[in-house]
Amino acid sequence: MAFLWLHISLYYSRGALNAGMTEFQEKLRQQHENSMHQELGKLLSTAEGAEAEVGSQRDLKGFKQLFHRFLQVKGPSVDWAKINRPPEDSIQPYERIRSRALPEGVASSLNKLAVVKLNGGLGTSMGCKGPKSLISVRSENTFLDLTVQQIEHLNKTYNADVPLVLMNSFNTDEDTKKILQKYTHHRVKIYTFNQSRYPRINKESLLPVATSMGLTGENSEAWYPPGHGDIYASFHNSGLLEQLLAQGKEYIFVSNIDNLGATVDLHILNHLVSQPAETRCEFVMEVTDKTRADVKGGTLIEYEGKLRLLEIAQVPKAHVDEFKSVTKFKIFNTNNLWISLPAIKRLHKQNAMDLEIIVNPKTLNGGLNVIQLETAVGAAIKSFDNALGINVPRSRFLPVKTSSDLLLVMSNLYRLEAGSLTMSEKREFPTTPHVKLGSSFTKVQDFLRRFESIPDMLELDHLTVSGDVTFGKQVALKGTVIIIANHGDRIDIPAGAMLENKIVSGNLRILDH
Ligand SMILES: *[C@@H]1O[C@H](CO)[C@@H](O)[C@H](O)[C@H]1NC(C)=O
Ligand SMILES: *[C@@H]1O[C@H](CO)[C@@H](O)[C@H](O)[C@H]1NC(C)=O
Repeated sequence: MAFLWLHISLYYSRGALNAGMTEFQEKLRQQHENSMHQELGKLLSTAEGAEAEVGSQRDLKGFKQLFHRFLQVKGPSVDWAKINRPPEDSIQPYERIRSRALPEGVASSLNKLAVVKLNGGLGTSMGCKGPKSLISVRSENTFLDLTVQQIEHLNKTYNADVPLVLMNSFNTDEDTKKILQKYTHHRVKIYTFNQSRYPRINKESLLPVATSMGLTGENSEAWYPPGHGDIYASFHNSGLLEQLLAQGKEYIFVSNIDNLGATVDLHILNHLVSQPAETRCEFVMEVTDKTRADVKGGTLIEYEGKLRLLEIAQVPKAHVDEFKSVTKFKIFNTNNLWISLPAIKRLHKQNAMDLEIIVNPKTLNGGLNVIQLETAVGAAIKSFDNALGINVPRSRFLPVKTSSDLLLVMSNLYRLEAGSLTMSEKREFPTTPHVKLGSSFTKVQDFLRRFESIPDMLELDHLTVSGDVTFGKQVALKGTVIIIANHGDRIDIPAGAMLENKIVSGNLRILDH
């Protein structure tokens, strides 16, 4: 209990404690750290095979550093009064970047680039087993297929050599590698590396819940990939950072693999590589205008003279509403990032990337409360020189997190070309409709079963569907459509139906005969 008390007092209290730790607290902190190190030593001794041990040791070294910092955290990581709006020129409109003509030799710029996709996540929230990137999202193509097609297209069009790098986690590595074989005949070089594997921590004792380095049986929930902020260390540790530098690569373009809008933008790349070395921008964060749907997204602020990412987890409770306001914090982070490779190497060597720790509480299947310590890739922005935000069009942020998102990207609202989705020019308004599908649609498998074909949505503004509802072939939805089947009822929208500004409820069944 003493440890828990220590932890709580370190983490949550403000005021007097902030002035520094008392001797007593410092002693407790050290005791706690020692216990953790002892437990980690025991875990390491269970690692099997020489290679496993090297990997685990490196991972656990990173974890020890993170845990050390976690114990030292004194209250919220930002002082609200010191937050400023970023200066005008630190977030540039995309139009300004785009207005500069591309030079003749686009290929030579592209040859300095590698594309990195964050591929550590599982498809669990969409009811799928295995890596999220292997879910089919459009015309039988998975997220990964679309990515490969995009990069192959770049290579073919510009005669350039852009490698694709996947940051896998221990959850996704094996399945991803199996699938990668199918791309051996594509003109894309694909590299992979693993992010680290850290132990989940018992919330009460602040000790690992793992009993061995294994991932099965009672340890199946004991480990986690520590968020995408881990990219810097694991990219370096894998040797891939050096390898790409040796190939003459200067920048990586990093994005979430489920963001279908995150394509290589030649104007942003050109902006980066064409600057003089002294003022070279080492980090670009693509941001976009916040709408009511993204009030929880991280935003850019100026803090102690540096551009900094502010996440909702760092915001003191009293200011959460202010943080969510669309007028005060107008933009949010799309997590499309352009990062200088030599700068990553420099900062990693100097151990100068101090990413704010995100404490993520979880309850395991057995009911045990744990925390996992994570970091976010964008939080490093404050460590890089001449960092810049670019306010990009919403079209560069097209994440597929739910089956409602999936319905949009599968529909005729989008055109698929060389792996990229663009909004159909047949849609009169550039905004996407607001779609809300109920829980009967959450799992991709159920979703697919409920649509005989994806409805025509070109003129749709708003769709809400709830309950046991199915759609026949070639349905068209226009304006605002609300379909609600109450418990025990079922609604089958007949093939060829056109619903315009309609509310459908009750029971409507079409039986086979
Ligand atoms: C990556 O993780 C997987 C799953 O734990 C493991 O099988 C594989 O050997 C790891 N790869 C490397 C290069 O460490
Ligand atoms: C990309 O295209 C160039 C030019 O056609 C070719 O030399 C290169 O090998 C290709 N890259 C890969 C990885 O296939």
